[in-house]
Amino acid sequence: METACGAGGGKRFREWRLRRTLDCYNPGVKITAHSGNARIRILITGGAGYIGSHVVKQLGDAGHAVTVLDNLSTGRREAVLNGELIVGDLADAALLDSVFGRVQFDAVMHFAGSIVVPESVVDPIKYYANNTANTLQLLGACVRHGVNRFIFSSTAAVYGVADQALVSEDEPLAPINPYGASKMMSERMIADVAAAHPLKYVILRYFNVAGADAGGRLGQSGAGASHLIRVACQTALGMRPEMTIYGDDYPTPDGTCIRDYIHVEDLAEAHLQALTYLQRGGDSATLNFGYGRGRSVREVIEAVKQVSGVDFAVRVGERRAGDPARLVAANARLKAAFGWQPRGTTLDEIARAALTWEKRLLATTS
Ligand SMILES: NC(=O)c1ccc[n+]([C@@H]2O[C@H](COP(=O)([O-])OP(=O)(O)OC[C@H]3O[C@@H](n4cnc5c(N)ncnc54)[C@H](O)[C@@H]3O)[C@@H](O)[C@H]2O)c1
Repeated sequence: METACGAGGGKRFREWRLRRTLDCYNPGVKITAHSGNARIRILITGGAGYIGSHVVKQLGDAGHAVTVLDNLSTGRREAVLNGELIVGDLADAALLDSVFGRVQFDAVMHFAGSIVVPESVVDPIKYYANNTANTLQLLGACVRHGVNRFIFSSTAAVYGVADQALVSEDEPLAPINPYGASKMMSERMIADVAAAHPLKYVILRYFNVAGADAGGRLGQSGAGASHLIRVACQTALGMRPEMTIYGDDYPTPDGTCIRDYIHVEDLAEAHLQALTYLQRGGDSATLNFGYGRGRSVREVIEAVKQVSGVDFAVRVGERRAGDPARLVAANARLKAAFGWQPRGTTLDEIARAALTWEKRLLATTS
């Protein structure tokens, strides 16, 4: 097991953070939360990845004690801006017991997983192992070590091809690929474990996550990521000669698919709200996370062209199997549970943040 402190802001801030990290991470001593102390001890799996790293940043900035467990398969060490990074794999049961044995966590947030849908079709075993079996492994550790708050990254892919104007959490689950199925099975396991043990959970079903942190230090970096806004930004930057719209004959106003694009910083904030919700005794909940606002593929491409000032080449290709015409979240349940309100982040703002990040990534890798 390798441990390392994440990078941070200024020198004094880094020293303070290091002291704080060492203070909470003293091998051999089991630490419990002090009563009356609002500082929460959280294990974040996948905290070096795109979404997890934004949550780690916000939790650390809010003064919570963060331990990240990540195998760095797609995550980046430098993305862990707060707390401590333990480099290791969720499949390693002995490692999990050691990590849980040293700190009495108040909560676990589980982001780690494999996320590329086409890959899940050709390598389903990887997805059921990493997403489903490893979630079971983590749940087992939570139960053995008395950790009773669990926040899980799920996905709109559990709905499959739902063509309602707004998809509610009551929509039947009918995933059409192993990625979605692996998440649906995880959701079911979490609910079953919670029914048998004193564990409360929040499952967040994310819609289309995009953007990057305002400070420009965090963003999407996984090599296989095929998300539309990222692909459009890469095309604007000349990293791809052209991009493809998969089908423009859908029953939508401009013929292209409509999705609910959410800014990663808003999503990260919702995780802190989920934590507060569980801390205050909230009951287990499964909630969509989306703005309830649909944008078409063409609108996204126009937004990226606009913010980049580049009129890049776009071709229209065949529809892809299993792409619903429209997938937009009903979010009333999220608003009621957390008092959450969308910040009103515009598509242009999301595109600008994504483009800034992609430029930075290009500059550091070329
Ligand atoms: N990005 C999206 O649009 C989106 C949408 C819906 C749901 N989600 C879910 O959100 C979560 C995070 O997604 P992301 O976009 O940040 O992906 P990501 O690939 O950037 O992050 C995943 C992180 O988990 C780590 N990891 C993977 N397997 C591991 C293992 N076995 N042990 C330890 N660490 C491991 C990776 O190194 C990486 O840091 C995933 O569970 C994903 O299914 C993402």
